[in-house]
Amino acid sequence: MCDLGEILVSRERIREMVDEIAARINRDYAGEEILLVGVLKGAMIFLADLCRKLEVPLIIDFIIVSSYGQEASTSGVVLLRKDIDADIEGRHVIIVEDIIDTGVTLTYLKNVFEARGPASLKICTAFDKPSRRTVELVPDYCGIPIPDKFVVGYGLDYAGMFRHLPDLRVVKNI
Ligand code: PRP
Repeated sequence: MCDLGEILVSRERIREMVDEIAARINRDYAGEEILLVGVLKGAMIFLADLCRKLEVPLIIDFIIVSSYGQEASTSGVVLLRKDIDADIEGRHVIIVEDIIDTGVTLTYLKNVFEARGPASLKICTAFDKPSRRTVELVPDYCGIPIPDKFVVGYGLDYAGMFRHLPDLRVVKNI
């Protein structure tokens, strides 16, 4: 088991971040319809908060991708466990993530989605660990950059636990 450490990003700061990203998306997509694709499981809470601040017409869908399993670091292998139901062709798609680490997961998803002919494709993430990148990937909507610490809460887990915590917290003793 592990212990919870300090709060790295407070729920108040997270709320501000969601408001800022939603305002940008509302501006950028005024007059358009968008397809939000949440990457389960981690993105569920961010997507739920974000979509309720959006004022453009939208459809929500989910994809299940697994790259970590029970491990604390990526295996480098991306498994597509559930595809979306919606048709991407001709749509303005925004992939919504909780965190980008190595960038392997989103590079894979970008390639899969680009091949389906969207009108546009952008990446939106709540948190980002740019120091961990092994592939070049820059999110279009980036919430809060964080240092290379193992964190949980706001959708992020350790062995499936702690996703429900409202703040982003550091994990100790892992
Ligand atoms: C996490 C996170 C991203 C991915 C990022 O998912 O939600 O999908 O890892 O890592 P990368 O940039 O190194 O590819 P995870 O596999 O832990 O699944 P989860 O969303 O169900 O927690």
